[in-house]
Amino acid sequence: MDKIKQLKAERRAVILAHNYQPGEIQDIADFTGDSLALSVKAAQTDADVIVFCGVRFMAETAAILSPAKIVLLPDKNAGCPLADMITAEQLRELKAKHPGAVVVCYVNSSAEVKAESDYCCTSANAVEVVESLPEDKKIIFVPDQHLGQFVIEKTGRELILWPGYCTVHVAITEDDIKKAKTAHPDAVVMAHPECTESVKKLCDQILSTGQMLKFTKTSEAKSFVIATEIGIIHTLKKENPGREFFAATERAVCPNMKRITLEKVLWSLEDMHYQITVPEPARTRAKTALDRMVEVLPAK
Ligand code: 13P
Ligand code: SF4
Repeated sequence: MDKIKQLKAERRAVILAHNYQPGEIQDIADFTGDSLALSVKAAQTDADVIVFCGVRFMAETAAILSPAKIVLLPDKNAGCPLADMITAEQLRELKAKHPGAVVVCYVNSSAEVKAESDYCCTSANAVEVVESLPEDKKIIFVPDQHLGQFVIEKTGRELILWPGYCTVHVAITEDDIKKAKTAHPDAVVMAHPECTESVKKLCDQILSTGQMLKFTKTSEAKSFVIATEIGIIHTLKKENPGREFFAATERAVCPNMKRITLEKVLWSLEDMHYQITVPEPARTRAKTALDRMVEVLPAK
């Protein structure tokens, strides 16, 4: 950790970590947050180097928004199965079937898919992004069907959905929630919108990871059941001493997020790897969609 600190200063680097990162990574980071907050931070920092402790699409987003900076992903294989569920070619085919439709793409997607999209969104502002679009516009929403379904319910808009899903969140079952509620009857149950519809129906609050951290601060409840990747429980506990947090299931672990270790962060700063870049013209096209995303703040 000392070596990381020293090299970070020498390289004029900033370490950004997602809320699902292992606890020790969140602890050495300069900034932790959800996808939206990290994107805003990546666009604003004046550091020369961004070490992105998260998965590839997050580092790509930083590279798209801050092309003059060096963006490092400490493990080059940290991907996101959800982001890989639609290709640019598949999106072009979908667009051809729905001429005139606007494309809103979840930030959990490749740079090439973003380049084919009109707007990006995260789980924190998907509702607001869709609400900002003209009523008469047809909207294609990719790639997460469950976030898309949540947006349909919140906005009453019809969306053309793509059948993508997060392998970690769909593994949280109704049975997990029912059992957790029986074990902790006074707890507030918070779920991420990537959970299935039947799971979300059983939960009290549907929130992005950043919104969960914010909600907890103002809530009067003393205990919470968390239906998302369990890495967030580290920060929830740290920020809320005296309150209790229970995972809906210990199975909710994203193996890609957990690829990042302290050693890999150190090596990434020593060897300046793995540099993530997005070639033109895809970068400029994807930036337009991302700029629109970082401008829309969530209501909650
Ligand atoms: P958040 O934007 O809520 O941090 O979620 C990111 C993610 O990967 C969810 O699985
Ligand atoms: Fe992707 Fe799901 Fe992991 Fe988030 S939790 S990075 S959506 S696989």
